Amino acid sequence: SGPATVTPTGQDSGTAAERVAQGGPYLTTAQGNRLYDTDHSLKAGPRGPILLQDHHLREKITHFDHERIPERVVHARGAAAHGYFKGYGTAGNITKAAFLAKDVTTPVFVRFSTVLGSRGSADTVRDTRGFATKFYTSEGTFDLVGNNIPVFFIQDAIKFPDIIHAGKPHPDREIPQAQSAHDTFWDFVSLHTEATHHTLWNMSDRGIPRSYRMMEGFGIHTFRLVNDRDETTLVKFHWKPKLGIHSQVWEEAQLAGGVDPDFHRRDLADAIEAGAYPQWELGVQIFPDTEEQMFEGIDLLDSTNIVPEELAPVHPIGLLTLNANPSNYFAETEQVAFHPGHLVPGIDITDDPLLAGRLFSYLDTQISRLGGPNFAQLPINRTHAPVNDMLRDGMHQTAVHQGVAPYRPNSLDGGCPFLAGAAEGAYIEVPVEVPAGRKVRQAPETFADHFSQPRRFWLSMSAVEREHIIAAYTFELGKCYEQAIKERNLLSLARIDPELCRRVAAGLGLPAPQSPDDLPAVSASPALSQLGKTWPLD
Ligand code: HEM
Repeated sequence: SGPATVTPTGQDSGTAAERVAQGGPYLTTAQGNRLYDTDHSLKAGPRGPILLQDHHLREKITHFDHERIPERVVHARGAAAHGYFKGYGTAGNITKAAFLAKDVTTPVFVRFSTVLGSRGSADTVRDTRGFATKFYTSEGTFDLVGNNIPVFFIQDAIKFPDIIHAGKPHPDREIPQAQSAHDTFWDFVSLHTEATHHTLWNMSDRGIPRSYRMMEGFGIHTFRLVNDRDETTLVKFHWKPKLGIHSQVWEEAQLAGGVDPDFHRRDLADAIEAGAYPQWELGVQIFPDTEEQMFEGIDLLDSTNIVPEELAPVHPIGLLTLNANPSNYFAETEQVAFHPGHLVPGIDITDDPLLAGRLFSYLDTQISRLGGPNFAQLPINRTHAPVNDMLRDGMHQTAVHQGVAPYRPNSLDGGCPFLAGAAEGAYIEVPVEVPAGRKVRQAPETFADHFSQPRRFWLSMSAVEREHIIAAYTFELGKCYEQAIKERNLLSLARIDPELCRRVAAGLGLPAPQSPDDLPAVSASPALSQLGKTWPLD
């Protein structure tokens, strides 16, 4: 079958032949055997026992038994839409990516999500929101797998299982479902102070968006762009909503969530159905690709940092429009598989240690979530570019591969040499110098400042926004059972701003710490060298 037919005007995924109506004058089994009754099991007489030979009964019930697949280990709850992206051509100087050229229109599928709640949790909770975009470009698929907050909790992917274990419900009571109001979360962020910045954004109005249509999106990591002269530039990706950025206040979110836990999912679908198509402008902050990978003293490889737009303005490079709802939630929103390593020529990665771990994690989890290695064949995941891979077999293989020699070059199958000119149009990694050095489990010193940027964020807030942040910390920390955890978080708040700390302490009925210097070591998991120890062979 051919490529999926997601068009710029927005249609379903899947070819016409794959879109199954499940209608018609008579029912059949999955094998096409016609049925005359689907309401009564085959029995030995009307009051007799059910017979094991009833294949229709067994097929119907066993298929039903296996309808659910595992939900995503994070970002389980989501809502998605089809649309298209139109390049402005303004990025032509810094990238050769074909889909960013002027007036090139590319079909996209975008999935928004909450991070921590399960598939059935409420939309309106205080949490980070996922903003993942699949561009079906002529050069293959490009996925921009971002969030609505421009920084991340941790600097190194090795801590991702830890922060997620801390954020997910407690293992004994399985509560709370989706909110950050619990001991393990607050314990983690007070002991791993690199999480302070992201947590502060979560406690701000950004933590409760009014609508997916009114959120910003961020690629967060620094990416490396390359143009057709092989010149490189570092960038950070930003999505700016045409409707502006809007949030709900806490009380509003509580009401909305109580009345309609599907608040954001419904809002997105209703808006698109009414023809009010949401739009975002894609933009980039641009930095020179220097050996240090720093900009104005900010480490570009540290995903707990932003680069303020005053220092590096966002340059618009294209427009995203969402104009069609999925017609089948499972086939599209649930089965879609994004991956930060799906890149096209002109877009490359940097050595951000958080990104490196992601490049491994997504494919690995999807093999388990989507039942084997062939999920790229699912209609929603199928690229719109021609495919000629050498992959074979595996669970849920639907292709009938031809030929006997799935390797290149070979002397069978008509003799397949390496293609002359294979590099033309191919994805070629930028041959950047890899820094020399010893193998160490250690963060660079430039990752050590965990408080200047949170302080800067706090100082940029209006008086009303500050009140919301104080109320959020007071409410969420107030839910902790352990007093020591509250106290340790007050020390972090003191490092951000004494007034913030004093007000939250008063709300919690605790004394404000005298001095932020009381704060213990910056990280609870310092590298070996920071502990004053060296490798035994030294
Ligand atoms: C899923 C964003 C860091 C592992 C997602 C999704 C988004 C996202 C938006 C949902 C995709 C969808 O809608 O299907 C981010 C961002 C990160 C980050 C912006 C940091 C900048 C990490 C790290 C890891 C990780 C460090 C692991 C080392 C996963 C996994 C999934 C996921 C396993 C589930 C994927 C699936 O089941 O298809 N992430 N993430 N993420 N993320 Fe991340």
